[in-house]
Amino acid sequence: MYTALQHEIETYEKRTPKSREAHQRAVYRVPLGVASNYRYYPPYPLFVRDGHGSRIHDLDGNEYIDHNLCYGALMAGHCHPAVMQAVAERLQLGTLFGMPHGMELELADEICARYPVDMVRFGNSGSEVTMHSLRLARAATGRSKIIKMEGGYHGGHDAISVSVKPKGNEFGDPENPTPVVSSAGVLKGTSDATLVAPFNNLPAIERLFAAHPGEIAGMIIEPIMMNIAFCMPDEGYIQGLLEIAHKHGALLIMDEVKTGAKLAWGGACEYFNVKPDIICLGKSIGGGFSLAAFGASREIMDVIHTQKMFHAGTYNTNPVVMAAGIATFRKVLTRDAYTHIDGLNRKLVDGYQAIIEKNGLVAYADGAGANGALLFYPRRIRNYRDWYHVDEDVWTHYWFAMVNRGVLAQPYWWDEQWTISVQHTAQDIDRHLQVFAEVAPALAIAQQERSAVGAHSA
Ligand SMILES: Cc1ncc(COP(=O)(O)O)c(C=O)c1O
Repeated sequence: MYTALQHEIETYEKRTPKSREAHQRAVYRVPLGVASNYRYYPPYPLFVRDGHGSRIHDLDGNEYIDHNLCYGALMAGHCHPAVMQAVAERLQLGTLFGMPHGMELELADEICARYPVDMVRFGNSGSEVTMHSLRLARAATGRSKIIKMEGGYHGGHDAISVSVKPKGNEFGDPENPTPVVSSAGVLKGTSDATLVAPFNNLPAIERLFAAHPGEIAGMIIEPIMMNIAFCMPDEGYIQGLLEIAHKHGALLIMDEVKTGAKLAWGGACEYFNVKPDIICLGKSIGGGFSLAAFGASREIMDVIHTQKMFHAGTYNTNPVVMAAGIATFRKVLTRDAYTHIDGLNRKLVDGYQAIIEKNGLVAYADGAGANGALLFYPRRIRNYRDWYHVDEDVWTHYWFAMVNRGVLAQPYWWDEQWTISVQHTAQDIDRHLQVFAEVAPALAIAQQERSAVGAHSA
């Protein structure tokens, strides 16, 4: 660790003693002291006291402009009044029934109006719906294998816990990546049915179909890979995947857990003008509550309708969450909201780019919809292998330096990205950029010193 980075981490420790103490106590009962492995980072994570609008406070009372927004689940921002009101009203009428209540149809209608699907089933998390979307593709095609992209994250279940963040000594040929199970305890047999391809590489997909004729049920992709920061598909790539899948009798599942609400009014389907076979939605569709959904054509969903495929869940469509979801679609994720957010994101990306250039940083900023990221890499990444070479120390320096100046620029880890909420303002973006301008000269010096001693080679 170099001195300037160390200095920022020491400053963080001085500013956040209550978080350190809370974490030290939590590790006794909660592995890693956190409820999701992603939430831990050294020396300890910030513990949050409250959030309103675009801001949160930690336990020490420090205020942050929040671009973590629960890993992109809060495009509504904290405590959005329309969502709070819908939930408060609904709380008076009962919170759980495990019986239908009519809001299923209301929300399904909202979803089918925005995305190119005819029928919808609901769940509570992105992981749940990607898991069921794989089952749906298998049930609809009668086939077993699935293709996923190297570096793609679709939740915590076994079938896609393969090649999420494989290491250089294990990932093999970039054209034909070696599938690498990403956690101890993942059933080898389950992941044997998972094939891995590089993103933005159609010939590699053709080769997998040729090597496994009649066996591949479908592919699951994130249209913009947002678990390697921010990686755009090449022009025509998603359409190309669709054509290859259909030529071979397979289906394309588009995991829109991140993009569905945040990229555009109609998600990545609208943004890239594509019609995948199955879509998965989660995160920001719930306005801060745990809501997820998967949808497809009537023909594909027929396997559930005719009870060939089983899908169930005690908490599915619990009324409080559904009230939040309906309010989010109708009152938060409006066409006007996307205009507001697109403007703020353009200002942020352009502002970052100007500061990068002024300081001679080897980096770039990219973004679309409500999301974007700063990448310490000399050119636009196209796949996981590019992202793998991002300079993590300089990124860590950037993250702590921003936090110490009151900007939570994105969740911790350089595979994440910022989110802008409907409650962020132009003043929030100005402040964010002002802080980045303060921090950038030290990052540039660090990069120059590190490249002089060969500490990092991108
Ligand atoms: C693209 C994508 N799919 C699925 C998931 C899993 O969602 P959840 O954490 O709600 O289970 C995530 C979570 O970050 C995600 O980014």
